[in-house]
Amino acid sequence: MSQHVAQDARRLYSDLSWTWPIVSRVADYAEEAEFFARAILDHSSRETRTLLDLGCGGGHLDHHLKNHFAVTAVDMSESMLGLAKRLNPEIEHHLGDMRTIRLNRRFDAVMIHDSVNYMTTRGDLRAALATGFEHLEPGGILVTFVEQTPETFVQHKTKSSTSSDGDIEITFIEHFHDPDPEDSTYESVFVYLIRRQGVLEVEADRHLCGIFPLQTWQDLLLEVGFEVEKKEWDHSEFPPGEALPMFLCTKPA
Ligand SMILES: C[S@@+](CC[C@H](N)C(=O)[O-])C[C@H]1O[C@@H](n2cnc3c(N)ncnc32)[C@H](O)[C@@H]1O
Repeated sequence: MSQHVAQDARRLYSDLSWTWPIVSRVADYAEEAEFFARAILDHSSRETRTLLDLGCGGGHLDHHLKNHFAVTAVDMSESMLGLAKRLNPEIEHHLGDMRTIRLNRRFDAVMIHDSVNYMTTRGDLRAALATGFEHLEPGGILVTFVEQTPETFVQHKTKSSTSSDGDIEITFIEHFHDPDPEDSTYESVFVYLIRRQGVLEVEADRHLCGIFPLQTWQDLLLEVGFEVEKKEWDHSEFPPGEALPMFLCTKPA
């Protein structure tokens, strides 16, 4: 069987978005939501009540962040927003692109979580960080993290997990490939082995993601106007020594 898959198909956020709550469990986001909420609250020198999540996906992180903040959420995928609205009906959701959206409101905190790695050029990354800056109150905090850097990227790294919901079982295989280590992109290739009552269906998907040296992140955050503190995000499921770099960024008061 051979199937051509567009370079940035993102089927996980369109026709295969129904698989998101199965392959990525809401409960699994509790630990990181607590970590990021604590990081924001500890770092902030002012009251932090409102939070804007740029690239909220299915709302799994927000489902826990809403215990700490009044959350407003943005995503560019209608089907992911549909999932998020169902999971978090009390949250205000907006369809929009984190590079360009302007809600003409300011928040105490901005989170750009695992959506930031869809910024594939320096200009796009700068634009997303600038959106965060524009939406913050003076003294507000933006938090984001870096999944891949040229220094740590592992060519052909592959991982898989199996989960089920009722009579649907999905084995989700993720494979990372960088065809040109000189440019600012790499590919995440996903294969879905979907079994419904034992009948197998195989789907393939490809996402184009961005990869930048940490120095580029620091430079862009400073350029946009932030005061920047680099920290590490560790999680009980990360292999030892594989904490990810994260940035706690303050909009000067
Ligand atoms: C891995 S999912 C986020 C999952 C989310 N953290 C959750 O808790 O369910 C990544 C999301 O980023 C969104 N995204 C990618 N590029 C975007 C952009 N330029 N503006 C807004 N959303 C974007 C995708 O539509 C997708 O829903």
